[in-house]
Amino acid sequence: MDIRVERGDIAQSQANAIVVNLFERITSPGGGTGAVDRALDGAISHVIADGDCRGKDGELTLIHTLGKIPSPRVVVAGLGASDKFTLDKVRSVSAGAARYARRARCETIASITHGAGIAGLDPEACAQAIAEGTLLGLYQFRRHKKPAEEDEGEVKELVLVEHDEARLEALRRGVERGVALAGAANFARDLANEPSNVLTPAELADRASAWAKDAGLECEVFDKAWMEQQGMGALLGVAQGSEQPPKFIVLRYRGGGSQRLALVGKGITFDTGGISIKPAAGMEEMKGDMSGGAAVIGAIGAIARLKPAIDVTAIVPATENMPSGTAIKPGDVLRAMTGTTIEVINTDAEGRLILADGLGYANQSAPGGPTAIIDVATLTGAISIALGNVAMGAMTNNDALYQRVQRASEASGEKVWQLPMYDEYKEQIKSDVADIKNTGGRGAGSITAAFFLKEFVGDTPWVHLDMAGVDFYEKEKGVTVKGASGIPVRTLVHLALDLAQEPL
Ligand code: BES
Ligand code: MN
Ligand code: ZN
Repeated sequence: MDIRVERGDIAQSQANAIVVNLFERITSPGGGTGAVDRALDGAISHVIADGDCRGKDGELTLIHTLGKIPSPRVVVAGLGASDKFTLDKVRSVSAGAARYARRARCETIASITHGAGIAGLDPEACAQAIAEGTLLGLYQFRRHKKPAEEDEGEVKELVLVEHDEARLEALRRGVERGVALAGAANFARDLANEPSNVLTPAELADRASAWAKDAGLECEVFDKAWMEQQGMGALLGVAQGSEQPPKFIVLRYRGGGSQRLALVGKGITFDTGGISIKPAAGMEEMKGDMSGGAAVIGAIGAIARLKPAIDVTAIVPATENMPSGTAIKPGDVLRAMTGTTIEVINTDAEGRLILADGLGYANQSAPGGPTAIIDVATLTGAISIALGNVAMGAMTNNDALYQRVQRASEASGEKVWQLPMYDEYKEQIKSDVADIKNTGGRGAGSITAAFFLKEFVGDTPWVHLDMAGVDFYEKEKGVTVKGASGIPVRTLVHLALDLAQEPL
């Protein structure tokens, strides 16, 4: 899909649909909406006066223009209360309007820049949010379905129409950023939506390397023999139950500056639980157990396109977790590359095992080591008990870095909430036979998992993002569509941009 910024009069646009907006309690619209209203001899004001268009959050009102202006239809998007308006609303309004246009079989849309009028938000940020919202909201995963009669059309073009020449350049910059962010999130969605028979560790590595090539990133894919040389016994332990060869994926962006950010993502292409096998119900969702890995690969691609002055490495240990005659068993002891030994209590706590070696590698990946590590993983079911499907859980050894993650999450609209790392929790992962064990009992499951990971990051500032509650969605809402969420790609990109601007 093509998104452009053009100078002109929105009322004169030739698009299949024009999108304007309305805040709650406005009876006589101004700005671009006002201009379209006048060109329609007050049709929008009439609909408002009749009570059919109230500007409620998420409301979409269709007005046929009956030849009064070149475009056959106007969609009035409700923005809700003006004092509660944010960039996040700009994203979700744009997503909703774009899906509405698609259902109406519109191929081209023209829109005003929601938020940049009386709401007074920064026009560049609004243009970014519109591009992001539109591309995220229109995303569909249809690779494995044949086209059907009832399929909706495809929106091929969105034009942001701006009358003020002086604003065009900022709007274009915003659109460019929005396209990079949403493109990366949609790439991550594609990976997570793909079934595990298609997206094996080798296929994940191939897609990462093609993505890296497009974005101008360095890419290395290491195999089992290399993992053996590195002493990655924890990753190899998980991989030994599978027929699919494991891969260790490393992508590098060199933007210079003082900061070196390592992004480590869990790359379990399917999690059966292993010998501690999972129940059948809902197991298909475990094709998305590489969502963290997909997110770091997606994010570094957008970072390469936006070129901040920071070095970033994305690291994804990738394997299946399978039960078999060669699989690890409860009670087995593994030795991670850092030398720490691990007693496997439950083979379904495999994410932390592969991340042990992902983090161990991250910590020695750059000369001088990384200045910050973020890991992203669908790590524990417990995090969705705590936070539902609304927010990721964050755990850290460095509050200053967490503050930056939180700032990035506010910019992206992908919510995070911090859980405590009180020393007392560490008791729960003490082992009698090894340095630590891979589960910590019933209580505080997400936090004991984080304590396990903490063992492998040394003194490097680190934030762990547990995204197990937000990896997939059942319903369409705002920028969220059915299936993989693409979270937290945009947060990671914002974090890299922010760290480049202001070192930790
Ligand atoms: N991949 C799962 C976590 C998960 C659960 C992700 C639900 C998405 C939705 C992870 O590997 C896992 O199985 N965790 C176990 C850990 C337990 C054995 C300590 C869990 O949460 O039950
Ligand atoms: Mn598991
Ligand atoms: Zn898992």
